[in-house]
Amino acid sequence: MKKSTSIIAAAALVAATLSGTTYSAWNEGGGEQGVAMTLTPDRENGIEVYEVCSACHLLEGWGMANGTFPQLAGQHKNVLIKQLADIRALNRDNPTMYPFALPESIGDEQAIADVTDYIAKLPMNPNNGKGDGDNLAHGEKLYKANCIQCHGEAGEGNQEKFYPKIQGQHYAYMLRQFEWIRDGKRRNANPDMVKQIAGFSDADMRAVIDYVSQIPVPKEDLAPVGWINPDYD
Ligand code: HEC
Ligand code: HEC
Repeated sequence: MKKSTSIIAAAALVAATLSGTTYSAWNEGGGEQGVAMTLTPDRENGIEVYEVCSACHLLEGWGMANGTFPQLAGQHKNVLIKQLADIRALNRDNPTMYPFALPESIGDEQAIADVTDYIAKLPMNPNNGKGDGDNLAHGEKLYKANCIQCHGEAGEGNQEKFYPKIQGQHYAYMLRQFEWIRDGKRRNANPDMVKQIAGFSDADMRAVIDYVSQIPVPKEDLAPVGWINPDYD
């Protein structure tokens, strides 16, 4: 396991060098992330900025069950700020979204603070994409042994530590991210998670993500079925 971890680290370094960026630490802070976290959000501007995002993440922030676009609604604000700042700084590759996320398109750190505060408060999708449920006992065992310490008992994540909420997220999106994190392709990944999951087979990966996709989201965080975002008439 030690060997494969160092191969992954080396591969990530090569990939970062090839793409012309320096390999950044997981969460150095500072930069746009640091600034955005100190700003007071403006809800009206958050609504305006989010209109750009809604072209892909949908007006409700629910993304798509097929995993093309993740659900953003209800995610921890700090996580949203970090991911958006990482995408803008090319610490996380997202060529589809990149041009729409730039300062020229949505504005500076204030726009990041505004839009992430707005998104974090949106009620979540009552119908997230789930796996086929055929190996849940194995998935639960893996989850309890390898994930709880960071993502929490129910996949609730941790706002202070920038650990994403994964409960209610779409199965197909999570599977892609998990694989990219395991294989060193998501460059902003937490190195301790990379180590923790280095020995996961593809079957383990599907089982644990399936289990996560079936964790119920607390009722108070969910929108009613068929909810339409009233901020855009
Ligand atoms: C053209 C489509 C598109 C637009 C417009 C777009 N995104 Fe995205 N976004 C994506 C895709 C695709 C992903 C997932 C990429 C991947 O699989 O790594 C993503 C991922 C994200 C993530 C990471 C989520 C996570 O769980 O880690 C955040 C945060 C995000 N988008 C925020 C925004 C915000 C804020 C805007 C508006 C300023 C926006 N996006 C506009 C396509 C888009
Ligand atoms: C040491 C802490 C840690 C452990 C252990 C860990 N993770 Fe993570 N995980 C993170 C962090 C931090 C991120 C976000 C990385 C970043 O900033 O891009 C993440 C990202 C993810 C994502 C992508 C979420 C998104 O919105 O894009 C998924 C899915 C995930 N983890 C699932 C798991 C599962 C399942 C396990 C157990 C098998 C696990 N993680 C173990 C810390 C951890």
